Amino acid sequence: MKERTFEQRYQENDIPWDRDHADYNLINIVEDVPLDPCTVLDLGCGTGINSIWLAKHDFKVTGLDLSPTAIAKAKERASSEHLDIDFLADDFLQAELAGDFDLVFDRGCFHCIDSEDDKIKFAKKVAANLNNDGLWLSMIGNADDVAREVGPPTMSAAEICRVVEPHFTILSLTAGYFGGEQSDPPKAWIGVMKKRC
Ligand SMILES: C[S@@+](CC[C@H](N)C(=O)[O-])C[C@H]1O[C@@H](n2cnc3c(N)ncnc32)[C@H](O)[C@@H]1O
Repeated sequence: MKERTFEQRYQENDIPWDRDHADYNLINIVEDVPLDPCTVLDLGCGTGINSIWLAKHDFKVTGLDLSPTAIAKAKERASSEHLDIDFLADDFLQAELAGDFDLVFDRGCFHCIDSEDDKIKFAKKVAANLNNDGLWLSMIGNADDVAREVGPPTMSAAEICRVVEPHFTILSLTAGYFGGEQSDPPKAWIGVMKKRC
């Protein structure tokens, strides 16, 4: 059976990763690092809940996602909260962006990229879109998780390092969980990576 696209899944509301609250890993890192308000790209932003949290905390946010349905929902959410967020429907690997972000956040986008070659392209493009000293905060499915019938794609720490380290210094790569209301959340890697200059 052909795998459904993200657009089809958003249209059918089959989006188990979607949440009503920002992920606590994002909140913790913004508070603990701490990260001051800056320009941020929420990469694979889905329906925009993390973009909205960032905008409410004075970040200047661009949210980008492949799925026009997800982006329409994100725009609706932001407008109902009177927030000014630039939401774009595009494929990051093809998109032409201004490329002047201080922070790239992705919750579950990087790990969706299928081949290692495309993952390498993705990491290189994240770096190209960051200002000097810019950070990439990435939440990635963790290959140490138990096998799940429904769950995110996963990567090992070794795979992440292989793909990311040519372009980033890894400041931390911590084993944790995707945050949300779920009782048995999938394991995640939470990576904080700084662009190499
Ligand atoms: C697991 S979902 C997470 C969505 C959102 N970050 C969240 O936390 O709810 C992964 C998202 O990445 C998007 N995505 C996957 N590949 C992408 C690409 N090449 N360019 C832009 N978005 C992409 C999908 O459409 C999907 O919304």
